[in-house]
Amino acid sequence: MVKVSLRKESYRCEMSNSEDEDLPQLSSHALAALQEFYAEQKQYADLGGDDKCNIGIIEENWQLSQFWYTPETALRLAEEAVASAGEGGRIACVSAPSVYQKLRELHREDFSICIFEYDRRFAMYGEEFIFYDYNNPVDLPEKIAAHSFDIVIADPPYLSEECLRKMSETIKYLTRGKILLCTGAVMEEEAAKLLGVKMCKFIPKHTRTLGNEFRCYVNYDSGLDREL
Ligand SMILES: C[S@@+](CC[C@H](N)C(=O)[O-])C[C@H]1O[C@@H](n2cnc3c(N)ncnc32)[C@H](O)[C@@H]1O
Repeated sequence: MVKVSLRKESYRCEMSNSEDEDLPQLSSHALAALQEFYAEQKQYADLGGDDKCNIGIIEENWQLSQFWYTPETALRLAEEAVASAGEGGRIACVSAPSVYQKLRELHREDFSICIFEYDRRFAMYGEEFIFYDYNNPVDLPEKIAAHSFDIVIADPPYLSEECLRKMSETIKYLTRGKILLCTGAVMEEEAAKLLGVKMCKFIPKHTRTLGNEFRCYVNYDSGLDREL
């Protein structure tokens, strides 16, 4: 059996006894990857309160289709979520980490939040982080009860019918009713069909210029539809 002992600075493979010498050990490549992973986790764990709210500390990973909102857009969406969730409301941020971070930054105690994310770097948020893969839309921990969030804000990673359809399953499982979806303008028809949402006047902005027009969609009377 290979035992990997994790020390503060170094990671060593130890064999449990001399008889195990023929058994495979972690390659230096695997060890280096493990070391990098733990160093990254430690770096996030060491961050102070307000630093953790800053989306800039987590770089966009384009392999994961990560495109962060501008701080203004993230704040606008966070405020919308709070207003719509109501006093003591529960808010689910599904693949929308910068809105989650803005909600944290508000430092308010009159709502609760969860971040559903595939990128485990966001596990630094502890109990509020729920690992989520849209390919398994309702494969969620037991503690996440059906229809237990007042509003779900979601931003699917891909502009495809399949991705939106699968994520819609998650959204419908989580929400008590309200949905705030951010995705491409090209998804308008599919979004209406799958979730009964309609496009708002408010236009979300990203820190980088994207090739596709982005929009917000809601299924309730929202402030986002009263402004340009
Ligand atoms: C288009 S970005 C939306 C981010 C949003 N604009 C923000 O600033 O918070 C898509 C999100 O989906 C996440 N994602 C990537 N692959 C995923 C998967 N298989 N399941 C669920 N989410 C995924 C990414 O990590 C990213 O946060």
